[in-house]
Amino acid sequence: MHNNVDSLFEKLWNNYLEVTPSAVKVHELLGSTQQDDVINDHIALRTFNHEKIGLEKLAAHFKAVGYTECGEYHFEAKKLYAKHYEHSDPTKPKVFISELLVEKCSEELQAIVNALVEQIDENVVTADNFLYSGTHWQVSHETYTQLLAESEYAAWMAAWGYRANHFTVSINHLSNFETIESVNQALKDAGFELNASGGEIKGSPEVLLEQSSTLADHHTVGFSDGEFSIPSCFYEFALRYNKPDGEIYTGFVAASADKIFESTNAR
Ligand code: NI
Repeated sequence: MHNNVDSLFEKLWNNYLEVTPSAVKVHELLGSTQQDDVINDHIALRTFNHEKIGLEKLAAHFKAVGYTECGEYHFEAKKLYAKHYEHSDPTKPKVFISELLVEKCSEELQAIVNALVEQIDENVVTADNFLYSGTHWQVSHETYTQLLAESEYAAWMAAWGYRANHFTVSINHLSNFETIESVNQALKDAGFELNASGGEIKGSPEVLLEQSSTLADHHTVGFSDGEFSIPSCFYEFALRYNKPDGEIYTGFVAASADKIFESTNAR
């Protein structure tokens, strides 16, 4: 496991850029000349709730560099469970890890996922690079399509495996933008498509968090039965508000996150 939080995020970022080239354009659009460093609010990772590679196995890599568990979230319809983690240094990105509750899915899906997980060598799960190591299994595009019919999340995991599903621009730290509406407009003017599920803006000042996201880039995946271009990863935008005590809200809003998941939907 990594012992340095910054080097871990640098690896995650470079791995994310490999399949999300539009992220560079987002930085060019939202960054300023004085401050070319766009601040990352959080990243998100996905997994299956299998004992071998469940949420806690991913969390261990973040705990090793100073993160602690801060909240949990349930997504009944999508059959997901998630936790978020924060670092003792509040300038470090928050981490949102979700897992698919496989036993709640069909027997067919369970059989497919179990077969994928069986192909993972247990040692890779604690290796330094696990969080950005991609897939550890062979899967066909036919199986991917079958998963897609039941769970977009399962299909995405089968195709992409372990990597940051998204990075998130902290609107609070942008010098050229004050509102999420203005960020969204700049993105649309530059030709980006936004995730409109549940409206372009998820959340509100009342719940202390507003979020929006691009639709995922498309990137080629080498499936066992050929190469296919499918949705990869996306960029999220978050504007946080102060709690009544004057401290900034650092949690997540389940109803909003539920819609953010749909940024990787096939289209
Ligand atoms: Ni997010």
